[in-house]
Amino acid sequence: MKIGVLGIGITKFGEIWDRGIRELLLDSQLRALNDAKLTPEQIDSIFTGNMCGDSLSGQLHIGAMASENLNLDKPSIRVEGACASGSIALRQGIAAIESGAANIVMVNGVEKMTDVSTDQVTTALMGAGDEELEGFNGLTFPGLYALLANAYMDKYDLTREVLAEVSVKNHYHGARNTYSQFKNELTIDDVINSTMVADPLTLMDCSPITDGAATIIIANESIAKKMNTEVYITGSALATDTLSLARRKSLLEISAGKMAAQNAYKQAKITPKEINFAEVHDCFSIAEIYAVEALGLAKQGEAGKLYKEKQTYFDAKTPINTSGGLKACGHPVGATGVKQAIEATMQLRGEAKERQVKNATIGVTHNVGGSGATAVIHVFKRMK
Ligand code: COA
Repeated sequence: MKIGVLGIGITKFGEIWDRGIRELLLDSQLRALNDAKLTPEQIDSIFTGNMCGDSLSGQLHIGAMASENLNLDKPSIRVEGACASGSIALRQGIAAIESGAANIVMVNGVEKMTDVSTDQVTTALMGAGDEELEGFNGLTFPGLYALLANAYMDKYDLTREVLAEVSVKNHYHGARNTYSQFKNELTIDDVINSTMVADPLTLMDCSPITDGAATIIIANESIAKKMNTEVYITGSALATDTLSLARRKSLLEISAGKMAAQNAYKQAKITPKEINFAEVHDCFSIAEIYAVEALGLAKQGEAGKLYKEKQTYFDAKTPINTSGGLKACGHPVGATGVKQAIEATMQLRGEAKERQVKNATIGVTHNVGGSGATAVIHVFKRMK
């Protein structure tokens, strides 16, 4: 597979009170068109990842909105797969190009989350879990990931201090990213001593509630070559698992992530050793540990070692979440997967400035929906 990345555009992530879902989306769409040096009429098809438009903004039909924003009447649909919506939209865009149905595709992700109370957001996000088995019984997403954290820390040698290092590193990267939600650096004590949310996860182990939009424009290989494109997507895979944790075979891994990674690596003809950096789904600090193991960047039960040895910083051996991840860059749920693709593109183009990974050729994105019921992996490669 060889799908070229023609352009990228992203809004600042955070509490963006002066803009609604439409304006956020339009902003990233125009930025990406400008970056790709394309006019709207050159887009054949649009896919937009969005999870909570209906529950948080009273707005469905985001597909038509994305098309109307550009004054187009082209095929345009909303894609939903919980927090993996953005990556699923990207995968659908790739499938449209591979099938020959489209040559140039715009993929957006957008979410407007901060206009309502935390209670409303928590209820809406819980739609990504199993309502009968989990939501109805009072579980929330911090609660679900706390169950995973307890299971993992009980079995493996992961201390509270090492788990906190995930957030410390992500805030260090976020402080070096112009579009991130949080620019403050943290210490391990800051993480451990912040407000308890769901034991052992404190506020600083949790991704925040975020507004934001991101857009990537992709094309088939021949168009991309003509436009001197540097960055290509060479693998794209999705796998699923049970909605509820109770029905999982194991709480010690997110096996959909593993399966999707293996399939994406096969398509891209790479091994984990060749990966220069990864943007992964750290909705809670423990989720990053699972992600690193799913990607094969550490053996099962051993990801903590990378954090203990500070190997996951942008200038270390295995850079993870150079954007700041969901924790510090922010997590506008439907936009996150597209943001990861944008960070991968920036790194491979050499545009990541203060957090630039040196000589990066291959980057991977890992985006999860729910507590691991959907996982999407993309492989990005610099070809020049
Ligand atoms: N990390 C760092 N700071 C955070 C934060 C986070 N995750 N969440 C909130 N804050 C900060 C706010 O910026 C605010 O700071 P200020 O007082 O300086 O302005 C302060 O903490 C209080 O914010 P508030 O909005 O009142 O927090 P809250 O208690 O309503 O929400 C959580 C905190 C953890 C409940 C919320 O961030 C959350 O639900 N996160 C998880 C989201 C999620 O589940 N996503 C899907 C994952 S699959």
